[in-house]
Amino acid sequence: MDSIREITALAAASLVLSALGSAQEIQPRMGAPLPGLDAAQLANFAAGKVVFDTQLTPAQGLGPIFNNQSCKSCHLGPQTGGSSSIFVTRFGVAATGSTPFDPLDNLGGSLLESFSINSPGCDEVVPPQADVVIHRITPPTFGFGLVEAILDGDILVNEVFPPPGVHGHTHMVAGLEDPPGSPLRVGRFGWKSQVATVLSFSSDASLNEMGLTNRFLPVENAPNGDLARLAQCDSVQDPEDPMDSSGKFLIDRMTDFQRYLAPPPQTPRTGMHGEQVFNAVGCASCHLSAPFLASSLAEPGIANVNLKPYSDFLVHDMGSLGDGIAQGAATETEMRTAPLWGVAFRAPVALLHDGRASGASPGANIQSAILAHDGEGLASANAYSALSAADKTALQNFLLSLGRLEFDFEANNNVDEVDWFFLYPLVNGPAPAVPYTPDSVGAVADFDQDGDFDLEDFGVLQRAFTGP
Ligand code: HEC
Ligand code: HEC
Repeated sequence: MDSIREITALAAASLVLSALGSAQEIQPRMGAPLPGLDAAQLANFAAGKVVFDTQLTPAQGLGPIFNNQSCKSCHLGPQTGGSSSIFVTRFGVAATGSTPFDPLDNLGGSLLESFSINSPGCDEVVPPQADVVIHRITPPTFGFGLVEAILDGDILVNEVFPPPGVHGHTHMVAGLEDPPGSPLRVGRFGWKSQVATVLSFSSDASLNEMGLTNRFLPVENAPNGDLARLAQCDSVQDPEDPMDSSGKFLIDRMTDFQRYLAPPPQTPRTGMHGEQVFNAVGCASCHLSAPFLASSLAEPGIANVNLKPYSDFLVHDMGSLGDGIAQGAATETEMRTAPLWGVAFRAPVALLHDGRASGASPGANIQSAILAHDGEGLASANAYSALSAADKTALQNFLLSLGRLEFDFEANNNVDEVDWFFLYPLVNGPAPAVPYTPDSVGAVADFDQDGDFDLEDFGVLQRAFTGP
């Protein structure tokens, strides 16, 4: 194969150059651990990944009602820990007059568990009186140790001093692991920022998605709140989450995995015209483009790391884009600014809380997600509509760089021979007639962003090669 011969020839030349190295590190691909973890942390990452991917059986605590058998069965794309268009259903009765939204807690709301270990006798159904029935799709958990380590004050500041035209709110919540009476924390996880820590989410998802009772949530969900049916359907003693020989429970193991997941990459890292357009039409008022800094008190490997999630983690009144569910302090119309890092991988699948922006090309799905912004997001959506076709495409291309690895021409989270097949014609040497800009197709291979794809970049490509 020609490409192999080319690789060998270039490889010899680049041996010299790779010794020069590069000030910048290659970004980890989605699903890989954070760079800078020590051996013990990496071992916990690996052990946690196994738990995240373990399909529970009823004897191990699955059910009696549940939505899926493992964390990974929903969080899987493009790698373990990621996202999917798999949805869960929530229901309730809409507010009328002075009567607030009713999540129908006593009938098993607001989250539906769609399956049971003994169907149909133990099944939960949407109660007939529910007049709000909505879907929420599965977001990714990449970079969540960093998100967790954002200081509360760094999120609060955008509520107190909001950028022009928006007024988001922090969603203050209790951590399940906090002793009673502890101060509330700034929520940041979930479509409504309804959870503050990865451990709380893991405990919550273990019970509510899988039926695994655990040390923070030791009581099973009864099918539609019916305790008599629960007694018939559940025979495993609670709490079901076992402790292993090192003193960790399953919820601690899955927490380790998510905490140590690297954030999604972004290529090129700076300079795309679409980012200026994104800022100019007000997207960055909510999808902040300035980085956060993880707390210096977090563990090594997480502490003091910069992260760029493109979210303020506040909930905003999104008008008709709200999901109609009041949850904690978040109202029916308030939704968390969806973090846009990694959106390149969600755009081809589904966007927005109910996945409605789907079925078209990635760029077209992004456009329909933008046009659905209402309420506080309407002015920005209108400003987008008024852009020239070229600027709309530039903005879409910028979003499609969020989640892309260097040298990943096909944008499939791998750098392999197929990428080389496409990249090889783009080699333009150290003095190109027309230098690459961050908007050029060749920018994906211009690692050091000096306008060319030369032997220096090629030296990095060798290190970045992941294989299929
Ligand atoms: C049935 C599919 C499904 C399963 C199984 C599942 N999740 Fe999720 N996960 C979701 C959905 C849907 C959401 C969005 C929930 C919401 O905000 O209401 C979510 C959200 C999350 C979030 C927050 C994401 C964000 O953007 O802030 C974390 C963390 C998470 N899940 C962890 C887990 C863990 C750990 C497990 C295994 C114990 C698990 N999930 C099992 C579907 C699932
Ligand atoms: C007022 C705050 C706000 C502004 C301004 C805003 N967004 Fe959003 N954005 C949100 C919220 C909140 C969501 C989540 C909506 C939902 O519940 O589905 C979101 C979701 C998205 C999504 C879907 C992400 C996903 O993973 O599903 C994209 C894409 C997006 N916004 C792009 C943009 C762009 C581009 C602009 C500028 C034209 C913009 N947004 C302006 C708040 C905002």
